[in-house]
Amino acid sequence: MMETRRLTNSEIDIAAQMIKDGQLVSFPTETVYGLGASALNQDAVKKVYKAKGRPSDNPLIVHLSQGSDVYQYIGDYSNYLDKIIDAFWPGPLTIVLKLKDNTFSKDVTGGLNTCAFRVPNNKLAQELIQKTGPLVAPSANTSGKPSPTMAKHVLEDLNGKISAVIDGGSAKVGVESTVIDLTVDNQITILRPGGIGKEDLVNLLPEVNVCLDNHLIKEAETPKAPGMKYKHYSPNTKILMLGLDDDLPQALINYDGIKIGLLANDQLINQVKNYIFDYYSLGNKSDSQKAAAQLFAGMRYLDGKVDLILAETLKGDDKYSKAYMNRLQKATGGEYFEK
Ligand code: TXA
Ligand code: MG
Repeated sequence: MMETRRLTNSEIDIAAQMIKDGQLVSFPTETVYGLGASALNQDAVKKVYKAKGRPSDNPLIVHLSQGSDVYQYIGDYSNYLDKIIDAFWPGPLTIVLKLKDNTFSKDVTGGLNTCAFRVPNNKLAQELIQKTGPLVAPSANTSGKPSPTMAKHVLEDLNGKISAVIDGGSAKVGVESTVIDLTVDNQITILRPGGIGKEDLVNLLPEVNVCLDNHLIKEAETPKAPGMKYKHYSPNTKILMLGLDDDLPQALINYDGIKIGLLANDQLINQVKNYIFDYYSLGNKSDSQKAAAQLFAGMRYLDGKVDLILAETLKGDDKYSKAYMNRLQKATGGEYFEK
């Protein structure tokens, strides 16, 4: 086992050198922590799959330090790409584009002729990528576990398997970036919901057709982003959704004697605090952005401490409620507490 160093923001040069040497370094982004390796070093990219236990048909996102860098790698693109990049990069948006031939190895792209790109909105990440060149960076968790929003989460999963993690505090968005497919002309397809919503894209480009990938509408469809087909984001402890806040008293009766961990807003927690074993706050009831930011941290906090996690569902139509529910559906396998 190697020693995994915990680096501070003043040690970016050490991290950059490790990456240039073909090693793996986790770094903070505004969404979740990424597991970085040089996109141009095939051996290093292979190590990423191994460290995470990631299926090899699940392609990676290439992270750049500035939007203008993307053009050297891509083939034909829509004339509104510039507008999207100007509006949303740096930020929580990943764009799938047609690739020029012989740009990245098949370990980066999963053998597809397209590639996902993103410019993270985080100073440390940008500084690191400026020094190293393009980095692949999947979320820095063991495949299937909740994505890491703090350096300590990265160490829970990958201590001894990677060279270092740069500690940049808590990730602000807390769920992974929105992924859009831009390989079809005049159409933007949302493959994974996140911090940039359908409404943001429609507002920017009212003349373009913005749609959701079929699997986000009908469960039986195969997702276009290969990674979305895997069971994801689950703690080891069983987790169920609470359809209604009012279901909670009944759940406490049904599960009498079982250690329950509640993942919910402050108001709900305050009502039942004395009757449950432990809880993790998703913030104020009306704050879906905060809830999305806390979801993964909450799953990790309660995992292994309790027998059963009960998680609040969000009913809102806004982008953060949708991103939250997408991740929670995957974590629970779609299972609700049933009275
Ligand atoms: O917020 C994020 O995007 C984080 C941070 C670290 O930047 N990264 C992240 O990476 O979530 P990862 O590898 O966990 O998720 C990448 C997603 C997967 O669902 C993958 O299948 C999809 O993007 N993807 C990658 N390349 C693709 C392509 N060419 N076509 C369609 N989907 C692609
Ligand atoms: Mg991931």
